[in-house]
Amino acid sequence: ETVYAYGMTLIPGVIDAHVHMRDPGLTAKEDLRSGSRACAKGGITTFLEMPNTNPATISQKLLEEKLTLAANKSIVNYGFFVGATLQNMEELKKATRTPGIKIYMGSSTGDMALTDPGLLEAIFAETKLPIAVHAEDETIIEKMKQELAGTRNVVDHSKIRSVEAEVASIKRACALAREYKHRLHICHVSAGASVDIFEDHADVITAEVTPHHLFLNVDDYLNLGTLAQMNPSLKTQEDNEALFQALLDDKIQIVATDHAPHTWEEKCGRYPETPSGVPGVDTALPLMLDMVAKDKCTMEDVVHWMCEGPALVWDILEKGRIEVGYDADLVLIDMNKTQVIHGPSMETKCRWTPFEGREVTGWPVRTWVCGKEVYRDGKFDESRMGVEAMFDHSRGGYWAGIE
Ligand code: DOR
Ligand code: ZN
Ligand code: ZN
Ligand code: ZN
Repeated sequence: ETVYAYGMTLIPGVIDAHVHMRDPGLTAKEDLRSGSRACAKGGITTFLEMPNTNPATISQKLLEEKLTLAANKSIVNYGFFVGATLQNMEELKKATRTPGIKIYMGSSTGDMALTDPGLLEAIFAETKLPIAVHAEDETIIEKMKQELAGTRNVVDHSKIRSVEAEVASIKRACALAREYKHRLHICHVSAGASVDIFEDHADVITAEVTPHHLFLNVDDYLNLGTLAQMNPSLKTQEDNEALFQALLDDKIQIVATDHAPHTWEEKCGRYPETPSGVPGVDTALPLMLDMVAKDKCTMEDVVHWMCEGPALVWDILEKGRIEVGYDADLVLIDMNKTQVIHGPSMETKCRWTPFEGREVTGWPVRTWVCGKEVYRDGKFDESRMGVEAMFDHSRGGYWAGIE
């Protein structure tokens, strides 16, 4: 088939290394079909999903059940992290078919916080898979909650989920990674101060930043209220700028969404009962392309942060050799398209976005997964499912691949 694409830009499919698809168990928020359609529309051809579903992905059996679900429901390629709990060390040691182990060092959706310091250390000491951490110190969070008790509203979310809580947690994780020479990836860094810490540990550590931590800050609580509630919390405009600069300086290696859909009804409750998290797969690539349109970075930077970087961090192999020939995960981009972000026109089930009303330039218009077109101009082809991403951890990760 000949594809005519005059004036368009073709880039590799985006790999979103941090999403929550809510399947199984929380499918009123999202499921693997709706979430993968949102990916396809957003130019994401592979996602890596976190374990805080119901049941949580904490054993090889549950991991493989999720892989089977995805094989039947996802139109893009997929991989699943295995989550650390107080009692699944043996599972973590033998886990396969996974990008790595996810540890929640602080509490968040799904109650998977692992706050026992001895156990945390044991996981670094005894397991081999790369580790991804949600880094927020639970003791510091709890202390601030006590101080603010009674008067809490969503503006306090950023005081409770403070820079200090993130910094303390990242320091702890970095120290363990150094001591046990264990590969560590810091999820969704939210504060400029955090960048200064892991810059000293660049040989063992990689990090990611989300579009919402790059482009939203505490001033947005005014308009967004609990729609801007997520973990880690939003910080300041100075943090936005420091995080973008950290990407440009290669101190943060990848952009990932932390796509964390909750229904409109859930998000319209009262803080602190409201759930934390915002959707992201529909809007991540357009938001980054808008930075290209505004000359803040290049198209090559975006490909580096959203395609090449995540493949290197998580040792993703050329995948899906289910047929003879090559696999093309590709996105066609129209850099002349300017459009306003609008929740109801998104594919995620929750159909709201913290970026509502933002006009951005640069949109994906066609997406191919394994050589097959799955999305074109608002229409989907769901006749063939995505494939399981393959991970070869003997590759050694980002720093091994970047030489
Ligand atoms: O805001 C968040 N939402 N942060 C997390 O760590 C989890 C996520 C979710 O699953 O809702
Ligand atoms: Zn997290
Ligand atoms: Zn880089
Ligand atoms: Zn997350």
